[in-house]
Amino acid sequence: MLIKIIHYIKRRWGMVNCKIGAFVNLSPTSHISCSARILGNIKLGKSLNIQRNVQILDNVSIGDDVDILDNVQIRSCGFFIQIGARVLINRNTTLLNQVSIGEDCLIGPNTTIVGGNHLYKNRSAPINTQGNESKGIIIDNDVWVGANVVVCDGVHIGKGSIIAAGSVVTKDVESFTIVAGAPAKKIRER
Ligand SMILES: CC(C)(COP(=O)(O)OP(=O)(O)OC[C@H]1O[C@@H](n2cnc3c(N)ncnc32)[C@H](O)[C@@H]1OP(=O)(O)O)[C@@H](O)C(=O)NCCC(=O)NCCS
Repeated sequence: MLIKIIHYIKRRWGMVNCKIGAFVNLSPTSHISCSARILGNIKLGKSLNIQRNVQILDNVSIGDDVDILDNVQIRSCGFFIQIGARVLINRNTTLLNQVSIGEDCLIGPNTTIVGGNHLYKNRSAPINTQGNESKGIIIDNDVWVGANVVVCDGVHIGKGSIIAAGSVVTKDVESFTIVAGAPAKKIRER
């Protein structure tokens, strides 16, 4: 127990540049970069690997054994983002608004998963004055999202599916299928 406490204090001590909210609970088995920012109503699991310049902001829950690599931004903007256990989120990826990622998923680098859209129907007002809507994105367990993918709001990606590199996912993806392209279409089953 004493060793655990010393380990915890050392880690906090080493994180002088790291911005971590006062009520964020850190497990002693997690590695969190000094340059990470973790602020808001954040629930963190055990044994996390959170690398350089990662931002986790607002209302976010992250399961155990999750890896979040350099420059990833996870920001719920007043909604809720949930990430299951044993997920890997690769470099430069962005998760915004309302997103739920199941367990054992791989999310490739430079990927954008934004559970929201700007409203745009009124032609006489600029789009940036019309507000936003969010249906939310759901990614089930064991999904592999390749590099440079965009997942649009309202999409449900079924269990065990694969999203090929560079795809733009605009419609639901059935379980255990592989989709590719912009817009993403089924290329075959797994
Ligand atoms: C999806 C993927 C796994 C499929 O690999 P595969 O099973 O070997 O499939 P194939 O290469 O045999 O391709 C099957 C068909 O899909 C097409 N295809 C494959 N990947 C594609 C892509 N990213 N975009 C568009 N079409 C693609 C192929 O051109 C081929 O078409 P054809 O039948 O008309 O010739 C792979 O192409 C991929 O995108 N991997 C992601 C790599 C990545 O992003 N890594 C980052 C680290 S997480």
